[in-house]
Amino acid sequence: MTYTSPLPVTEGRFYEGSRLQIDNLVMAYGDVDVIRDVSIAVEPGTTTCIIGPSGSGKSTLLRGVNRLHEPKAGSVALADDDALALKPDLLRRRVGLVFQHFNLFPDHTALENVALALRNVKKMSKGESRRIALARLTEVGLAERADHRPRDLSGGQQQRVAIARALAMEPEVMLFDEATSALDPELVKGVLNLMAELAQRGMTMLVVTHEMGFARKVADQVVFMDEGRVVEAGTPDEIFDAPKSDRLRLFLSEVL
Ligand SMILES: Nc1ncnc2c1ncn2[C@@H]1O[C@H](COP(=O)(O)OP(=O)(O)OP(=O)(O)O)[C@@H](O)[C@H]1O
Ligand SMILES: [Mg+2]
Repeated sequence: MTYTSPLPVTEGRFYEGSRLQIDNLVMAYGDVDVIRDVSIAVEPGTTTCIIGPSGSGKSTLLRGVNRLHEPKAGSVALADDDALALKPDLLRRRVGLVFQHFNLFPDHTALENVALALRNVKKMSKGESRRIALARLTEVGLAERADHRPRDLSGGQQQRVAIARALAMEPEVMLFDEATSALDPELVKGVLNLMAELAQRGMTMLVVTHEMGFARKVADQVVFMDEGRVVEAGTPDEIFDAPKSDRLRLFLSEVL
């Protein structure tokens, strides 16, 4: 599968991504450690895909990076800042998170869903928030659907609204957790194309995905996690064509 951009890249903005560095992270639910000494560095403007079996800790790791669940030990650096010392609200403005479920307000249009976030978080005026919301919706190829409510949009379009809402915060890093896994198969490609486009435009991205074709084509680095640890990390060629561990070989034999 090839990824064609919804917009010619030259027409799009370029992003100024920041470096994200996770070192020796440990996270637990109660007494059970589910992230055990994880270190991952994502260079500015690059995409790292995290793959691994269910329950390996992928979602928990992303939740730790933007502090929806506080890590127990280790460090997370965003550019030159200690992400674990920033105010969580400020951190979440700098690190966008897109989930499987889009959590849009059903009674508001696509435009208002994005604009409301700008007014609430960035304290913008109504006019300014709507102007920027329309620009971000245009960026995700949805300008013509701006006045539709979520129920009148396809799942893929709703996910693109959620991505536009995250982009509106001008994040330095974007985290994606299975952003396409709730979508009907025919809608997956449009969202993956958009994510590939963001990667091409210099967004720093940490992407949990089951889409191995996407990881192979778009990732600069692929990280394989199992049982809360990084088992292997490398380029897509290294991970997919020359896996070193039995665990990764077994995983790939099950998913490819
Ligand atoms: N809120 C929670 N309370 C207790 N344990 C949890 C909680 N959320 C996740 N876990 C456990 O933590 C471990 C890691 O879960 P996590 O959701 O991070 O895995 P995952 O790799 O994202 O899996 P999947 O591919 O199924 O989404 C699992 O053993 C899971 O059961
Ligand atoms: Mg998960």
